[in-house]
Parts: sequence; structure tokens; C-alpha cells
Amino acid sequence: MRTITFALAKGRLAKKFMGLLAQSGINVPEMSDPSTRKLIFEDKEHGLRFFLAKPSDVPTYVEYGVADIGVCGKDTLMEEGRKLYEVLDLGIGKCRMCVCGPESAASLLHSRQLIRVATKYPVITRDYFYNRKHQTVEIIKLNGSVELAPIVGLSEVIVDIVETGSTLKENGLLVLEEVCQLSAKVIVNQVSMKMESERIGDIIQSLRRIVH
Ligand code: PRP
Repeated sequence: MRTITFALAKGRLAKKFMGLLAQSGINVPEMSDPSTRKLIFEDKEHGLRFFLAKPSDVPTYVEYGVADIGVCGKDTLMEEGRKLYEVLDLGIGKCRMCVCGPESAASLLHSRQLIRVATKYPVITRDYFYNRKHQTVEIIKLNGSVELAPIVGLSEVIVDIVETGSTLKENGLLVLEEVCQLSAKVIVNQVSMKMESERIGDIIQSLRRIVH
């Protein structure tokens, strides 16, 4: 039996996903050991293997076929634009991509002013401002703690993920516009989908029954 490989976004998403798989009888106890630094785990009984990857790298592993199935956020899929099949919404990791900033920046989003937008998501940001709002902006790529940018004057607004809203609140920022809703998706390599259609189909079906 050929091993089916999963690439999972390391962290909360991988944990939640393994919780869903457990409901279909697939358990990898070693993965829930908080002290482990391992990145690859195997379930020999079911012929499965799991990679824990940096979330933004999950689509890369799946597109290149070193993982057959991936689990990552819709934000990553939109930003990476990889060639793969998006087959299932897991209904977990729900959050929103938003334009945020101080209240005083709201009016700048309704003018033709060239404003600066800081974000970890330049592709999503460009698409939103250029194709949907038709506003020319300067996009500044950051790698984290994006909320800092409007506070210290690096940008007027940010485009970032809002989940509970507490990061914004604690930093005196507001959601000014919603770009889109986000959640975790299951993705599949295009060749794997053909070559292993039965086993991958079964996995997707049992996940679908659990999440719907
Ligand atoms: C994410 C996101 C926000 C925060 C939103 O950051 O970029 O900063 O979570 O969550 P909240 O609405 O529940 O407060 P993450 O924790 O991934 O770290 P980062 O800022 O380094 O990207």
C-alpha cells in the first residue's frame, strides 16, 4: 500500500485537524506529545504520514506532490496561488481578513489618496485595493506583529487576520473594511487525486461526514 502523505499547518490547525481525524479512527498519539520537536509522523497501520510545515509552505509541499493532501488556511491559498485542488472546507480556524487601522484612517479608504498599507499578505492586499476598490496604494510587506505599523507611523492601515479582535482592541485599532471570510481548507495534489482517487476520496468523504 502506498503511503498517503499529509502536510499540515503546524500549530493549532494541525492539532484541530488531528482531532477531526481521530473521530474517523485515525490516531497518532506521538503527535500530541507537547515536548516533541519531530516534524514527520507515521501511522503505519493506515499507511499515512504527516508533515508539520510552516503554514505558508503547505501549498508548496502539495503542489510539488511530496504531500498528497494539505491542510491550511484560505488566506495561505489565496496568497500563494498554487496549482492544486481545494476540496473541503473544514469549518475550523474561522477568521476574517480585514483592513484595519485607527478610526481616523477610515476616510482615507474612500478617497483617491495614495496610502500605505502594511501586511503579511501583499497578494491579497494588491487584489483587494487594485481590483476591487480601484485604489492605488503602497504595499509594505511585514512578517508579523503587523498591528505595530499604523501605531508607529509606518503605514496608515494594515490588512491582517482578525479572529477574536483582541489584538486590535488592545492596540487601539478597528476593523475598517472586511476583505473576506477565512477558514481551514483541505487541498489535494492534482496528480495524487487521479492516481489515488479511491483512498483520497475515502479520506475526504469521512472528513466531510465529520465536519458537516
Ligand atoms: C494573528 C494576526 C493578528 C492576530 C489576530 O497573528 O496577524 O495579529 O493573530 O487575532 P485576534 O483577532 O484573535 O487578536 P499571529 O498570532 O499569527 O502572529 P503575528 O502577528 O506574528 O503574525
